[in-house]
Amino acid sequence: MKEKILGLLRNTENYISGEKMSSVLGVSRTAVWKHIKALKQQGYQIESKSGYGYHLIDEKEHINKEELKILIHQLGDFFTDAEYFDKIDSTNVYAKSLKHRMNTLIVANEQSMGRGRLGRDWESGSGHGIYMTLKIHPDLMPSEAVNMTQIMALATIRALRKLYDIEVLIKWPNDIVFKGKKIAGILTEMTTEINQIDQLIIGIGININQDVFIGELEYKAISLKQITDKEISKLTLIKQILFEFIELYNEFIIHRNLEYVIDEINNYSSVVGKEIIAIDKGKTYNYKAEYIDKDGRLIVRDDKGQYKELLFGEISVRSKDGYSK
Ligand code: ATP
Ligand code: BTN
Repeated sequence: MKEKILGLLRNTENYISGEKMSSVLGVSRTAVWKHIKALKQQGYQIESKSGYGYHLIDEKEHINKEELKILIHQLGDFFTDAEYFDKIDSTNVYAKSLKHRMNTLIVANEQSMGRGRLGRDWESGSGHGIYMTLKIHPDLMPSEAVNMTQIMALATIRALRKLYDIEVLIKWPNDIVFKGKKIAGILTEMTTEINQIDQLIIGIGININQDVFIGELEYKAISLKQITDKEISKLTLIKQILFEFIELYNEFIIHRNLEYVIDEINNYSSVVGKEIIAIDKGKTYNYKAEYIDKDGRLIVRDDKGQYKELLFGEISVRSKDGYSK
């Protein structure tokens, strides 16, 4: 109900009376008043003037369950629910604990145990970034899940390029980089039922507000603020990424491979055309990265000219000479 009240306040230029809201929403005026009070407690500046009603003075961005519900509604019927946490261990872990089969968007302001691939940590300090997970139920086989990481990576690239005009690239298989430094990472997990995906959990962490990174991240990571030096609207970015994701996802479900976007994926790759080092179970291999194929694999050539397919999984890719094109 609170998100509906916010919607009405936003759609009214001046004041809207409690009576009007109660009749439009089919609830009592007391209920409207209670929700307005709760919204004020959440930090919304709502002016009330006797004889006129309520007016929203909205200068700062709020991220909460209500805003996320408004956002998913604007995206059509892909998501049925949204959840927001000020602090959580990990949005991916939480998503896996949800047993219902509704497509759900989960966003947090901070994670105490943000995770990357292969059990690595993901720095997720309070307000530093976007930490979000999509819990969805595609009618796909487990082997097809790798493609969803590529789709999320491309959705993120498209959104960042459209909104901020920055030269971000995909570092196969799951990172988004700017001049070789990581701005975002994607962690796709799943639960399965006999040869079918049950839950697909796509988590993405995007560095937004950090002014500095410390320790090993000083040379590895970068934030949107460091690149653009602008105030970033997290909601605008979340919405654009999800918009692009849903569009790409709907097409993927028809084609069941990445052929329809493979040129774009290859053009935005930071590894294709480069000499790379692949690390697989502690062993290192030197290759030339040739292209990413329609099933999301990285095709490489070894020093004898033999082609090999690198599967998303245990393999880590390192550049020999920096990732920027
Ligand atoms: P690869 O994906 O090729 O295996 P990677 O080093 O990018 O290698 P990931 O598992 O993708 O590894 O990402 C986790 C790593 O990312 C962590 O080990 C850490 O070095 C780095 N990292 C952690 N938090 C952040 C962050 N907020 N921004 C950028 N990088 C981070
Ligand atoms: C990586 O680069 O290895 C992937 C990083 C993924 C981080 C995101 S933040 C939201 C979601 N919750 C997690 O614990 N991890 C992902």
